[in-house]
Parts: sequence; C-alpha cells; structure tokens
Amino acid sequence: MTMKGVILAGGLGSRLHPLTKVTNKHLLPVFDRPMIYYPIQCLVNAGIEDILLVTGGNSAGDFLRLLENGADFGLKRIHYAYQRGEGGIAAALRLAEDFAGGDPICVILGDNIIEGNIKKAVEDFLAQGEGAKILLKEVPDPERFGVAEVDAGGRVLGIEEKPRHPKSNLAVIGIYLYDAEVFSIIKSLKPSARGELEITDVNNAYLERNTLTSEVLEGWWTDAGTFESLLRANNLVAKGGANKLEP
Ligand code: DAU
Repeated sequence: MTMKGVILAGGLGSRLHPLTKVTNKHLLPVFDRPMIYYPIQCLVNAGIEDILLVTGGNSAGDFLRLLENGADFGLKRIHYAYQRGEGGIAAALRLAEDFAGGDPICVILGDNIIEGNIKKAVEDFLAQGEGAKILLKEVPDPERFGVAEVDAGGRVLGIEEKPRHPKSNLAVIGIYLYDAEVFSIIKSLKPSARGELEITDVNNAYLERNTLTSEVLEGWWTDAGTFESLLRANNLVAKGGANKLEP
C-alpha cells in the first residue's frame, strides 16, 4: 500500500484580515517562500509523492500558477481539488475520497510548519495497518488547539477542540494519518457549534473504535493562522530548519 498525501489549504483565513482579504492565507510569505511550500516539503521529505492539494476561497487559481506540476519539489504532478466555502477541515478532507482510492493518507494542514521529519510516524502508522495516528506537541497555549488528554502510559483518553480549561498542554498538531475508514466517519459527522465538520470529531471517532495511536513530535511546530503565530513561523524558519527545505 502506498501512502498518499493530502494538504488542506481551503478556508477564508478570516483571522488574518486584512492580509487575506484579496489573497489566500497559504500564499502569504513565511520568511523566504510562500506558506504552502512548507507542508508540501514536509510530505515530500517523508517520502510521500502522490499529493492532493485542496484549496478554495481567494486566489485559488494562483496555486496552479505558483506550484505548476510540483517540479520545485521533485514531483511529477500535483493533484488539485476545490472546496466551496469553509465547511471545516473534515469537510475539506472529504473531497479527497476519490483521490485516496482506499489507500492510507497523511493529511497536513496548509498552515502547519514543522522543523523535523515525520518519516518515522508514517512508517509506524503503516506498520499499525489500520485506524489513525495523531501527532502531539507540548505548547504554552493549548486552548488555541485540539488538546489531548493522555494517561501515564501516553495513551490518548480524549480530545477536546479549543477547550476553555485544557486537560493537558499537548496540542494535536495538524498532521494526521488515516486509513480509508476516515471517509465513512466524516459522512457520519454533524457540524459543530462553529458550523464546521471538525477534525477533532474524526479523531475521537477513531478513539471510540480503539484504533487511534499518538506520537509526540520532535522539533518545533507552529501554525501560522493568526498574526502572532504567523510572526512566530517567520522567525522560526528564518532561524533555520523547517523541513530542511530544498532547494
Ligand atoms: O493547527 C492545528 C489545529 O488546527 C488543531 O490543533 C485543531 O484541532 C484544528 O481544529 C485546527 O484548528 P484551527 O482552528 O487553527 O484551524 P483553522 O480553521 O485555522 O484551519 C487550519 C487549516 O485547515 C487552514 O489553514 C486550511 C484548512 N482548512 C480549514 C477550514 C476551516 C480547510 O482546508 N478548509 C476549511 O474549511
């Protein structure tokens, strides 16, 4: 089985207005390249070369002009899908069903940037054979994210989306490994209070089935969807690292 990659770069980026009033959040610069370069390189560095980019909102056509067929990343082609509106991360992922074609997928949010390599997590998930794997990272501001409650052995007990009183400081980062069951799970979801199909509900559904595993990510991780985190992303990348980007 080959692992396929799905990058979710839809949504309207409203938390970054007016930066995102006329362009797409994932086209904004992070140090010396557009934000979308980092998740693509993250997948490529993990050995994943069959990639679907889901986008929407402003400037969706600019992704094609920017990325072309993926030659800058050593790819033969990039697949594209268009998300109407912003129905949530799980709604964007639903558009990947035909592309996945029953194969396992590695999903990465278009505004997530990591220092290291997820190759080992991908291999561990393929050895796991079914279910899902999430990646966790200690953060000082867990209330901004999906937060995992874990037991002494590191097993996930539950995940809460942006809890007011987080049960741990372990954020669920925006990189997820799923088997093909993910699409039937998404179809069973109801929109959350903020009107979106939540990826946290997908992960909790795997937890209920007892097929969810987790690993703590090594190296730094940041999102880039708020003014503060966008600035932090710029600074972290400028200081070095970030997926050891080539060229
Ligand atoms: O960054 C990690 C966090 O991402 C997780 O800890 C949370 O559990 C998860 O819900 C998510 O939280 P955010 O509220 O920060 O997600 P946001 O709405 O900013 O969307 C993140 C990316 O997902 C965005 O850059 C593009 C993609 N997305 C989002 C929406 C709402 C889509 O492709 N389509 C969408 O409709």
